[in-house]
Amino acid sequence: KVDSIILGIETSCDETAVAVVKNGHEILSNVVASQIESHKRFGGVVPEIASRHHVEQITVVLEEALRQADVTLQDIDAIAVTEGPGLVGALLIGVNAAKAVAFAHGIPLVGVHHIAGHIYANRLITEMKFPLLSLVVSGGHTELVYMEKHGSFEVIGETRDDAAGEAYDKVARTLSLPYPGGPHIDRLAHEGQPVLGLPRAWLEPDSYDFSFSGLKSAVINAVHNAKQRGEVIAPEDLAASFQDSVIDVLVTKTVKAAAEYGVKQVLLAGGVAANKGLRNRLQEAFSPMQNIELVIPPLSLCTDNAAMIAAAGTILYSQGKRANLALNANPGLDL
Ligand code: KG4
Ligand code: ZN
Repeated sequence: KVDSIILGIETSCDETAVAVVKNGHEILSNVVASQIESHKRFGGVVPEIASRHHVEQITVVLEEALRQADVTLQDIDAIAVTEGPGLVGALLIGVNAAKAVAFAHGIPLVGVHHIAGHIYANRLITEMKFPLLSLVVSGGHTELVYMEKHGSFEVIGETRDDAAGEAYDKVARTLSLPYPGGPHIDRLAHEGQPVLGLPRAWLEPDSYDFSFSGLKSAVINAVHNAKQRGEVIAPEDLAASFQDSVIDVLVTKTVKAAAEYGVKQVLLAGGVAANKGLRNRLQEAFSPMQNIELVIPPLSLCTDNAAMIAAAGTILYSQGKRANLALNANPGLDL
């Protein structure tokens, strides 16, 4: 079997990322230029600023990824690029860079769904065993995705309002913590106790959907009410209470779905997968379930990167999927 070398490009939000991946699992390079410093003072990602940074960074990051992988464009079998979902102006930079390079060098082009990328980050560390279930938790998504085989994605549950990461970032803002707030809440939570007894949105008994906006409001109300009573809730306890509520629902629904669908593997994916509390609780929950293997990628592969896009792109490429030069950014792309 001949080797495949895929170039991945990811610009859906605030990281300009390019990677080179061999045979779908071997990372030759994985370069990420983060813009977090530029967005921090605005308390979130500013789309126009994100687009401008991508324009400035994309060529540099592309050249660096090729250099670190010690390959040239002649060695690349296909270019895999995130076509959606994400910020349209940000996506457009990656899509147009991919199309330009593909056209100029006659390289096949593959469009990749950002969430498929997050799930396939797991293939960079282990073989995927089907059927599997993936818990995708990021700044823009909270989904339970069932996969019967490579390239087949069935969303069995999703958030009805805020994504988990979005809730983390909003609660962090209430506590005047810097953006992105997830890691700060995570750190604080380990120093506090979940004494507040915040609500858990279980929704209908048979539903695998999620809802985090009520929890976010409960946190804001708790802070407000305490202030009116002239009291302050310790930020550590607030963070611990919030995190306990989020993780309780995420882990309970994932365990239930994994059992119901009889999966062999559970894959964690997305930026919130970096959460230590979530990682620990999932490990505790799945350790007695001997038939189910829990896979948790290292932090660098959980947050946005292009190796995951190349990994997903490798499968699509091997399945014969091709994009042409009409490929466009699609901010609302379905999985
Ligand atoms: O996947 P990602 O890098 O970008 C999106 O596709 O959205 O996820 C970013 C999200 C942010 O909301 C950030 O606060 C959250 O992941 N995050 C965390 C942690 N690290 C990052 N949330 C909770 N705990 C963490 N340790
Ligand atoms: Zn992401």
